[in-house]
Amino acid sequence: MTPQTVFISGGTSGINLGIAHAFAASGARVMIFGRDAGKAAAAAALIAEQTGNSVMAGSADVRDFEAVRRLFGQAVERLGPPHVVIAGAAGNFVARAKDISSNGFRAVVDIDLLGTYNVFRAAYDVAVKPGSSFLAISAPQAVQPTVGQAHVCAAKAGVNMVVKVLAMEWGAEGIRVNAISPGPIRGTEGVERMAPTDADKELWSRRLALGRFGEVSDIAAVAQFLSSENARYITGTVIDCDGGMSLGNVHHSSDQKQLRSSEV
Ligand code: COA
Repeated sequence: MTPQTVFISGGTSGINLGIAHAFAASGARVMIFGRDAGKAAAAAALIAEQTGNSVMAGSADVRDFEAVRRLFGQAVERLGPPHVVIAGAAGNFVARAKDISSNGFRAVVDIDLLGTYNVFRAAYDVAVKPGSSFLAISAPQAVQPTVGQAHVCAAKAGVNMVVKVLAMEWGAEGIRVNAISPGPIRGTEGVERMAPTDADKELWSRRLALGRFGEVSDIAAVAQFLSSENARYITGTVIDCDGGMSLGNVHHSSDQKQLRSSEV
């Protein structure tokens, strides 16, 4: 089978780097890109060293459609048209609305929502048709109102809708469009921003149905499934890979003991 060609925005760190690593390890031709060319080159070198498969590194800001389009043109020349496109670049900070300027709100909406659209729109012109899988990286905030995350909630809710509408518009041409909504993933910048202390992390993990944070490889496995032939009839979905976070908070045994004693 011809190896897949995979383009990944934000593939220079965290979850997206893990996804890039998994595709490279399976023999795919991978192009990762971010805003910082040096960081992208270092990440590509690391993946190549670990997997023995070379990876193309690019730099473009997802807010700049023309830059993304130019980069995709170069990547198609080197690697061929993409079968898999992952819009993973995201920006986040935790702050209540009274502490976020209009520009701060826009920065996150532009990176997360417009950036996802730009990546998909540029990819649409060059992707393998039929037979492509486009994936967005959403977040639980898309459906769960979260204090300190007005900007992210708005942007990620928009991402889920873009995914669904593009799935409807592009399905007939053989492009499937889906999203993954990752819960807290160990070691990522997102978790560090949301839960900076060990106590925060401990409390958060105890509230999850599975009682622990996920691994980058958990998200990579879902990305590979959604991009595989096995997912050929799946489009327009947002798959929660979140240890049950979207179900709401649960209490594990130690909390329940505390609850029972406080009820007496
Ligand atoms: N609280 C409130 N406002 C903040 C903020 C915070 N913690 N961090 C940044 N901002 C505001 C800035 O003040 C600025 O607004 P202003 O011009 O009115 O002062 C605006 O956001 C843009 O900041 P800037 O740093 O110039 O933008 P940027 O485009 O370089 O960075 C961000 C974008 C803000 C999303 C930045 O956090 C980022 O680059 N993140 C990338 C990494 C990341 O978020 N990873 C986590 C992924 S889950």
